[in-house]
Amino acid sequence: MTKNLKSTTRLNDGHLMPWLGLGVWKVEDRKTLIQAVQTALDTGYISLDTAAAYQNEAFVGEAIKSSGIAREKLFVTTKLWNRNQIKGYDATIKACKESLQKMQMDYVDLYLIHWPVPSKDMYPEAWQALVDLQKQGLARSIGVSNFHPHHIEKIIETTGVVPAVNQVELHPWLNQKDLITYCRDKAIQIEAYSPLMGGHLSEEPALAAIAERCGKTPAQVVLRWHLQNEVVIIPKSVHDHRIRENADLFDFELTTEDLQAIDLLNRDHRFLPDPDHMAFY
Ligand SMILES: NC(=O)c1ccc[n+]([C@@H]2O[C@H](COP(=O)([O-])OP(=O)(O)OC[C@H]3O[C@@H](n4cnc5c(N)ncnc54)[C@H](OP(=O)(O)O)[C@@H]3O)[C@@H](O)[C@H]2O)c1
Repeated sequence: MTKNLKSTTRLNDGHLMPWLGLGVWKVEDRKTLIQAVQTALDTGYISLDTAAAYQNEAFVGEAIKSSGIAREKLFVTTKLWNRNQIKGYDATIKACKESLQKMQMDYVDLYLIHWPVPSKDMYPEAWQALVDLQKQGLARSIGVSNFHPHHIEKIIETTGVVPAVNQVELHPWLNQKDLITYCRDKAIQIEAYSPLMGGHLSEEPALAAIAERCGKTPAQVVLRWHLQNEVVIIPKSVHDHRIRENADLFDFELTTEDLQAIDLLNRDHRFLPDPDHMAFY
């Protein structure tokens, strides 16, 4: 499949989503964030991934405004934090409006439930709020994050609405093959977070070997593996050269053998908690 920096995938609600975006988790310093977003936009990224929990939505909005790029040319994702999600419908609507206000935007391209927090069992009610936020035009597309199939089944049962996206931890050490198959069957786009294994690339010599053969870096090989698996990626970096490196993915192709070799690195290793047991809010 041929892609370029601005290529998109069509979601199950008809909207387009870029295959590549910049993640900004843990970038809390205003100047650093604005610089990273500016570099990404200059490089040609058109998608940004933030969250209420990252406490940098306002800086993302500021960076977009100061770039002078028209809002409709960009794809912005933010997420509903657990503290509001577990309070249910009204708190969810309010939280989305607060995020939009912080970002100085009329709508977000993609609004996600950040975690299901099954112990509170409020995510089906929160999902109904996202369905209504989409109807009101405040969120173009709606989706979930960190959802297992059984969480997805429950929200579909409650509302009849299938999420457009499931953003999950996904990288060579956690390749999520079963979840990908489940989501593909339901036309839910998989989006990888921590696509670069949170930076632990040098701990996998197999990646360096493939990278050397391709004349690319281990990061580029891993990101290319995601793209060839039809997975949306949002690598995070605050370094200009890495932001550019992570977008330079469209002039080479991994072979079937390379893809299989990377698949074999799976060890079902999570950097973040299993969503069934994550209870932080
Ligand atoms: N939905 C969720 O629950 C959830 C959870 C986690 C993350 N996310 C989203 O996914 C995004 C990405 O995930 P992530 O931040 O966990 O991890 P990641 O993108 O896999 O890795 C980021 C780390 O890799 C380093 N890095 C970046 N490019 C590199 C390169 N070319 N070579 C070597 N190292 C490189 C970065 O360092 P420097 O910054 O110093 O370059 C940083 O330490 C987040 O920013 C966030 O938007 C969502």
